[in-house]
Amino acid sequence: MSAAENVDTAGLKRGIVIKDDWPGYSLDLFTYPEHYHEDIENVYIPHGIIKNRIERLAHYVMEDFEEDQMVVLCVLKGGYKFCVDLVEFIKTLGRNSNRYLETRVEFIRLKSYLVGDSKNDQSTEDLHIVGSSDLSFLREKSVLIVEAIVDTGKTMKALLKHVETFQPKMVKVAGLLVKRVPNTAESLTDYIGFEIPNRFVVGYALDYNEYFRDLNHICVISKTGKLKYKI
Ligand code: HPA
Ligand code: MG
Repeated sequence: MSAAENVDTAGLKRGIVIKDDWPGYSLDLFTYPEHYHEDIENVYIPHGIIKNRIERLAHYVMEDFEEDQMVVLCVLKGGYKFCVDLVEFIKTLGRNSNRYLETRVEFIRLKSYLVGDSKNDQSTEDLHIVGSSDLSFLREKSVLIVEAIVDTGKTMKALLKHVETFQPKMVKVAGLLVKRVPNTAESLTDYIGFEIPNRFVVGYALDYNEYFRDLNHICVISKTGKLKYKI
């Protein structure tokens, strides 16, 4: 099956849709850290495609943010690569056009409190903000929340509620990946890189128990990988 048959590119801001039966690319076609050889099934989204999609998202952001400045709120740890690449593309666009959008980058970390078995690849129910929970610098600012992955939307909903209490002028959300899961809350994500099936993916700063963040492609973890890095 070809990528063209499996990827619906009608997405625009709503994301490139990767269908349920997309098998990914064979590992042999790409380079990746050799020690992960047995730990990943396939290259689900190659690094080059991720980067180019982010460049496209940077254009949308430039169009929508009309002020001279914005605050980029990066959700760690998974969002760090997406954030760096997105901000770099915004800066490049600014240098090559007659409008420079200044970016101030701030970081936030969200802690999920354990509800039931929430280790490994299970999502948790409850959420708390750690690190800089005083976000009063957001007041009257145009804010872009940058998050690697949005699934049920519960986390994003809680974060948006918290951010709104600091009275920003405007808030938008960029999500590199949005999972098609049952009972998704209404769409909270304004700029979507890819809409993916409900599968556990790693790489491009997304982890499985802190492993795989150093993989540039987004990949599907193998059974071996899940076992090897289980805690
Ligand atoms: N990969 C890594 N972290 C995640 C995922 C995923 O698929 N979903 C929620 N957190
Ligand atoms: Mg994680």
